[in-house]
Amino acid sequence: MQTIVITGFMGCGKSNVARELARRLDVPMIDLDDRITAREGRTPAQLITEAGEDQFRAIETNTLLELLQTKESRVIALGGGAWIESANRDLIAGYDCLSVWLDTPFAVCWERISASTEDRPLGKTIEDAETRFNLRRPFYSLARIHIPVDGTETVDQLVSRIEVELKK
Ligand code: S3P
Repeated sequence: MQTIVITGFMGCGKSNVARELARRLDVPMIDLDDRITAREGRTPAQLITEAGEDQFRAIETNTLLELLQTKESRVIALGGGAWIESANRDLIAGYDCLSVWLDTPFAVCWERISASTEDRPLGKTIEDAETRFNLRRPFYSLARIHIPVDGTETVDQLVSRIEVELKK
């Protein structure tokens, strides 16, 4: 099985969908942000705040590379900005991974971001988050599989739709 990476904006549902897809495919699920936290002893939010976004992005790319080098099959939930970096997209293509974009409307993402206790330094204000969302959309659209999401679907329904796409 090819490794599958799930991408999309903060709050689009990446981790929940990745977990359920991995369960159905009977492969491990890996959350890139959790890997970064384990490797660095600091969360992505702490790294962005304390070391700066550029430093965080370098760590993110190194962590992704280490992960892909093990060449095991799995489902990876990326952080919302990981796919935006061309170096990461090149790595993902180079390791022959299948990319899935959860295309969730900004309003739904924002509702989740603002309701969450998770610290997201790049999604602090609605204006900043929406600008970032619009700038990123063209990059997310480069993913191989596009899953339009309206926010009313269950995780099960979304994963079933991904499975249909995987069989095509
Ligand atoms: C980021 C998203 C976060 C995390 C970091 C940066 C981004 O992950 O990687 O705070 O640039 O969109 P989630 O998408 O899981 O919130």
